[in-house]
Amino acid sequence: MVLDMPSAPIPRVFLGNFGYSESEIDKEAVRLQYAIRQPMRWSMEVCRSLAPLTLEINRLKKEKDVFLIAHSYQTPDITYGVADSVADSYALSKEARDAPQQTILFSSVRFMAETAKIVSPNKTVLHPSPDAGCSLSDSIEAEDVIRMKEDNPGVPVVCYINTSAAVKAECDVCVTSSNYLRICERLPGDSLIFVPDKFMGRHLQNSLWGKKEVILYDGECEVHAEFTGPKIRNWKKNMSENGVDLKVLSHPECDSEVLEESDFVGSSELLMNEAKRLASIGNRDMMLITECGTADRVLAETEGNLNLMGACVMCKHMKKTQLEDILQVLIDPYPEQIIDIPEGTLKRASKSLDEMFRLAE
Ligand code: 13P
Ligand code: SF4
Repeated sequence: MVLDMPSAPIPRVFLGNFGYSESEIDKEAVRLQYAIRQPMRWSMEVCRSLAPLTLEINRLKKEKDVFLIAHSYQTPDITYGVADSVADSYALSKEARDAPQQTILFSSVRFMAETAKIVSPNKTVLHPSPDAGCSLSDSIEAEDVIRMKEDNPGVPVVCYINTSAAVKAECDVCVTSSNYLRICERLPGDSLIFVPDKFMGRHLQNSLWGKKEVILYDGECEVHAEFTGPKIRNWKKNMSENGVDLKVLSHPECDSEVLEESDFVGSSELLMNEAKRLASIGNRDMMLITECGTADRVLAETEGNLNLMGACVMCKHMKKTQLEDILQVLIDPYPEQIIDIPEGTLKRASKSLDEMFRLAE
């Protein structure tokens, strides 16, 4: 059976207008609905109820000179309503590092906001949802890496960006879903330790087969682990029986059986770019094997009618942040919403990120 693509949750309906006039609210609601481009789910009524919030957040952002970045998996009212930039974890780390503003507000999960602080230690980094974790970054601690290093002396340690600052401090180089293959290929030696994602690690093992041994850890993304090879094969078979030439686009946090069934593998940003490219050459039938936010972005940024098939899975951690949280952190952040990393840890972690920027370019 082929399912329709579910979408991100509709946020809490906000009742209040911060003194904005009816015409300002109407204009903002039209802007939101046009940018999100999902009129069935993001109706004019919903957009109107959110408009005072987005207007107020955008006003405060300007007044306080805050740069608001949002990961692709945030809800469309955030990505298209208030974010100055939306992208994958690699691009956002660079943007946080290079932004001229002294305050970064990162709408995403904790490890991404921590990464922004590591690459821009002199800036204030605000994170609206301190309890927004990640099953990958929560699966590993610094002690686990220390143990692996003791068991494999001299072997370079590569950590996926979905890790805490303390774990990054124990690693030689950090990677993201857009550069892990390139960076691992470029590392010296004939072996490496890769933590914590076992699926991405297996993809690396397959890609580096005969060139390097890859020692793995046992972490997984609870969202991407939902997709299995048999499920994808079944969807593809169904579609081809109906004469549809389905293109399968997958995130590398998926099992290697899923990746083998895929036409394209890449980060959230690369998946979106590939979907746009396929649409521009007339390919309308696609399956996005990843978190639902990518489909929201593809729908917003692609002209014409796309058939996005299969079922996306929602990341409950990514979806914790809502516009109200962003407004609150802009007005008066709680101490735990201001990222603070012990100096020694930050300095050591920044080396693994500097090394990533050096090897990725
Ligand atoms: P991207 O770098 O592809 O955005 O991945 C981050 C992530 O957490 C995916 O689940
Ligand atoms: Fe972590 Fe997976 Fe959520 Fe990405 S989608 S933040 S890897 S739990």
